[in-house]
Amino acid sequence: LPALRVAVLGAGTVGTEVIRLITQQGEDLAQRIGARLELIGVAVRDAERDRGPHVDAALLTTEPSALVREADLVIEVMGGIEPARGLLLEAMAHGASVVTANKALLAQDAASLYEAADEHGVDIYFEAAVAGAIPIVRPVRESLAGDRVQRVLGIVNGTTNYILDAMASTGAGFDDALASAQELGYAEADPTADVEGHDAAAKASILASLAFHTRVGIGDVHCEGITAVSAQDIAAAARMGRTIKLLSIVERIEDGTEERVSARVYPALIPDSHPLASVAEAYNAVFVEAEAAGSLMFYGQGAGGAPTASAVMGDVVSAARHRVSGGVGPRESNYADLPVASIDEL
Ligand code: NDP
Ligand code: HSE
Repeated sequence: LPALRVAVLGAGTVGTEVIRLITQQGEDLAQRIGARLELIGVAVRDAERDRGPHVDAALLTTEPSALVREADLVIEVMGGIEPARGLLLEAMAHGASVVTANKALLAQDAASLYEAADEHGVDIYFEAAVAGAIPIVRPVRESLAGDRVQRVLGIVNGTTNYILDAMASTGAGFDDALASAQELGYAEADPTADVEGHDAAAKASILASLAFHTRVGIGDVHCEGITAVSAQDIAAAARMGRTIKLLSIVERIEDGTEERVSARVYPALIPDSHPLASVAEAYNAVFVEAEAAGSLMFYGQGAGGAPTASAVMGDVVSAARHRVSGGVGPRESNYADLPVASIDEL
């Protein structure tokens, strides 16, 4: 079988699991793709640090730029805006297809990544950027592209769900629950992004842009996190038969012939009888409402190394199949420019 040269940027929580799957499932993946995935390098900041049994130390490099220029497929799991953005643009300019889990980057500057993918005729996939293992990007971006999505609503941040669930079910304190979420690999490198709602807002911007075929940036998302939610709030909610969850809601607003979108993230009181109330630990759940499809529900592990690596690898297989047999994934260059409603207008 021919070989596809794969570069991985980052060998942290997600990257090490991606590398494990590429190495442990190499034979099966080769059969599925029609080509072998040849790992040519893994970019990190500290090439001396041991990365466990699945990461060959000889592949570690602190020269990501040289690495991406040699690759057919680049997997970006380093996070942050730069150098991730520059490296992805460089990879595409050199003809590589890219897979990224970087919601912060997509929410800030998806446009330049989409344009580069179009210009160079390569794929850009990002299933892992929203809701960990749950297939939600592909359904919204592709499966429902012929329908008319009205609303996407749910829990899309595992860390905050883990914290709220621990506070409600075991009486854990906020700081202890956050420390556990960090140890379990759910939190962002800077967990402020989780607890202040910025990570959920980034995901809302991605979902809104895909669902409504428009451009919604992170600055368009009304965002409240969970730092103001106290143990007393959670206890008071419980006495009312309610559970506090951090919700992300994106919806299409139709007012006569005028159309706008709304995107918002905030802690909400959910009746205990609602399926979202029983989403525990770092699980996520997303409801999609579309004109023809009706209501759809997606549920699963929303964070963590292995679940996220599963989503990354699905994208890798799609992009690799295109390299082997031709074709490209979805394009995002044609879009409407719908106005975004502010929270005060709703
Ligand atoms: P980690 O912090 O665990 O790992 C980041 C990796 O990237 C590390 O190996 C780090 O190197 C490397 N890295 C960071 N900056 C640079 C740089 N400038 N140059 C070279 N290497 C660099 O992050 P995660 O694995 O948790 O997350 C990775 C991405 O996946 C992020 O975009 C995150 O938002 C996203 N994501 C994470 C999920 C999760 O549950 N953890 C779920 C879904 C998406 P070193 O180890 O040497 O410091
Ligand atoms: N920090 C994120 C979360 C990782 O907790 O949901 C998954 O995107």
